[in-house]
Amino acid sequence: MAGSGIFGQTRDMSHAISPGPLQSVEQWDDFVKSRYRPDRKKEEFRVFDASSPQVVKDFYRENHAKQTLDFVLAKEAGYQSLKKGRMGIWEALEKLEALVDDSDPDTDLTQMEHNYQTAEAIRKAGHPRWMILTGFIHDMGKVLCLYGEPQWAVVGDTFPVGCAWSDSIVFHNYFEANPDRARPELQTPLGIYQQNGGLNQVHLSFGHDEYLYYVTRPYLPEPAQYIIRYHSFYPAHREGAYDYLMNCHDREMFEWVRKFNPFDLYSKSDTKPDVNAIRPFYEELVSEFFPKQIDW
Ligand SMILES: [Fe+2]
Ligand SMILES: [Fe+2]
Repeated sequence: MAGSGIFGQTRDMSHAISPGPLQSVEQWDDFVKSRYRPDRKKEEFRVFDASSPQVVKDFYRENHAKQTLDFVLAKEAGYQSLKKGRMGIWEALEKLEALVDDSDPDTDLTQMEHNYQTAEAIRKAGHPRWMILTGFIHDMGKVLCLYGEPQWAVVGDTFPVGCAWSDSIVFHNYFEANPDRARPELQTPLGIYQQNGGLNQVHLSFGHDEYLYYVTRPYLPEPAQYIIRYHSFYPAHREGAYDYLMNCHDREMFEWVRKFNPFDLYSKSDTKPDVNAIRPFYEELVSEFFPKQIDW
């Protein structure tokens, strides 16, 4: 599909993520890392939110105002059918890398290094091959930026839409501007959902997690699907909110999501990986689970 379709547009589309409040989607990851640093006390939480960088506040102001139930349903319908074209895993990773480099020349850790570091940390901890692979590809859904999706529809903590917003969601006050506030049927704890009906019935704010779940679902074991789909769902995996929407199976699977999170957050400070030395391992790993090309 060289030169055609959305993936042929990397250079031209690189401006797509510049107009947002963050200089790049990577800036958000760095913010999350500092927000969830291991030594941080619960009491510091709200204070830290108030003193967060302006770009982060602006990002969440937009994200919380615009991620409505209707918006999410439309994005799900648009992306679930995987009509963006066929592409290999490495090709996707490289396109994403080019995009991040173009928009954020000063970043000291590229997306690819984050992929390697997360995966290497999982590998060193002795976890199974599917989990190493999951670490390697978990942020690949950020190719949404290549389609021109705005930052607020790609990154950020995710949260359910269609029911009341939990107090544990960061910058909760920004939901004031969300039009769903005027829909009382969406403002009860259950909203449109069944109690303990399972997360599969729940629509989360749209972003790179949900999209990559659609793309990789046929090829990965279920715990990997949960990690990919819910790794930004901090209100649940970090704060324990929305337990009443989960069923027993979700709770079991969330053990994996929680196990994964520290590797995503805290592997960034490790020494830079020797990419040339480890790339063959990852080539073999990717081809063990994925065919040469997959639908996007
Ligand atoms: Fe992510
Ligand atoms: Fe990540």
